[in-house]
Amino acid sequence: MSDKKNTFYVTAPIYYPSGDPHLGHAYCSIAADVIARYKRLLGFDVMLLTGTDEHGQKIENMANKEGVIPEEYVDGMSQKFKDLWKVLDISYDKFIRTTDSYHKESVGKIFTKLYEKGDIYKSYYKGLYCEPCEAFFTKTKAKVDCLCPDCGRELKYTEEEAYFFKLSKYADKILKLYEENPLFVRPASCFNEMKKFVEAGLEDICVSRTTFSWGVKVPFDKKHVVYVWIDALSNYITALGYENAKSKEELSNFYKFWPADVHFVGKEIMRFHAIIWVAILIALDLPLPKCIFGHGWLLFKDGTKMSKSKGNVISPLDLINKYAVSADAVRYFLLREFPFGNDGNFSFDSFVNRINSDLANDLGNLVSRTTSMILKYKSDGVLNLENLLLGIDEKELISTVSKAKNTYQNLLDSFKFSESLSAIWSVVLQANRYIEKVTPWKLYSSKNIEKLDTVLYILCELIRCVAVLLIPFIPTTSEKIFSQIGISSKGLKTFSSAKVYDSENLVKYKICREKEILFPRIDLKSVD
Ligand code: MSP
Repeated sequence: MSDKKNTFYVTAPIYYPSGDPHLGHAYCSIAADVIARYKRLLGFDVMLLTGTDEHGQKIENMANKEGVIPEEYVDGMSQKFKDLWKVLDISYDKFIRTTDSYHKESVGKIFTKLYEKGDIYKSYYKGLYCEPCEAFFTKTKAKVDCLCPDCGRELKYTEEEAYFFKLSKYADKILKLYEENPLFVRPASCFNEMKKFVEAGLEDICVSRTTFSWGVKVPFDKKHVVYVWIDALSNYITALGYENAKSKEELSNFYKFWPADVHFVGKEIMRFHAIIWVAILIALDLPLPKCIFGHGWLLFKDGTKMSKSKGNVISPLDLINKYAVSADAVRYFLLREFPFGNDGNFSFDSFVNRINSDLANDLGNLVSRTTSMILKYKSDGVLNLENLLLGIDEKELISTVSKAKNTYQNLLDSFKFSESLSAIWSVVLQANRYIEKVTPWKLYSSKNIEKLDTVLYILCELIRCVAVLLIPFIPTTSEKIFSQIGISSKGLKTFSSAKVYDSENLVKYKICREKEILFPRIDLKSVD
């Protein structure tokens, strides 16, 4: 593998297009996007992958229900995911569909490789099957009354010829990996759960089906289709050209980005990633991803999960339209409100409160007060200083910015989104307090112009630094802020430029007269 120092590969799950994308799906994609944008900000060559997981019985059934062929069904549905990611500014580098021919070609080859190695063998499956989850369960794992341990629905007894993957063979290697690298599975709650699960012993798993045909055919036994997880999990490497590249150049992407730096997944699919995917990679002699992070679920107050099978999903587009908010507001809310590894209770009240208080009041006001003052006190809106008059308050603010920046970086490096936003807000809140304390309007009326200029300059610098650090979270807003304070130079939007420049190297600000309100307050009376 190549030197990976300057590359970063982050993946979001590939979603089942068996229903419209909802806020729960958006949550993980936004998190992955924030990390991708953050790493780009730090100068990494980033690859962000997402897509749709289009095979399987559920999809075949959905297509039948709608009276269309599966191809037509998945074409329409996967487009809906792409459309939503566009609205939400998900800057993916590649969108993979498991029906893409290059992916199917690789899956066939991977399956054959594992078979030839003796890690896949043919046998007979007799047992309990959950159709909605597309998963088999042993009697001991199913509840007494034959209900699916994952979704609680009825399991059906099924008997069929199937291929099996020798998962049991890899239990010791997986445990050793966990022992050597406790940060491989995060957060710790997921790590402990996975460890316990493997310690209890692993059974071989069924990896082919004959009861439906919508999937990748097993190349040497066409009656079978590759059962969902080998097909789905392989997307992380097939997207890079593994077993489908037509030239060395095409395969260079694989050497450049694999192993992945982080797979973001919901906690219920952690087992497939931290156990099955790991075993498949070991069997293929491939390096393992550096980290698998399992995030929590968006729940409602009564503890039910937001999910399409429960029919209680919230559409991000509805939120944006009904509350007349920007995609940035939704991105901010999701990552600020819910600490990433935990479940979070979604409520419309918390949505409105977050936006009104953090975005409209704290950040929005800081920018609008500062720019209004400059426009009022400087007829041309230009702040072009030669010198700074730094007092104790200013020095304190400058040190708050640099501390917050370090904290933000450490926290984002360990995927603590909410906490890293808090670190930025410590600057925003202190800047607002600073305005109250130094009362620039009094400096103006007492003609203390040198001090006034310093105060306004420091405020512009803080705002610029905050806007830089917020690029990963609310990219459109950061750009709006830059243009409101007249920053167009790329060099002043970089991570390293996020510091307050001193008298040696002053930045010139020119405030734009046409000001758009960054985050209008949501007036609940006007929401239907
Ligand atoms: N297709 C598989 C993933 C294969 S990855 C190789 C799948 N698809 S899914 O559409 O059912 O779910 C995709 C992701 O959405 C999962 O990570 C899941 O946790 C996430 N979410 C679905 N509902 C969610 C919430 N209510 N809250 C947070 N995330 C949730 O599983």
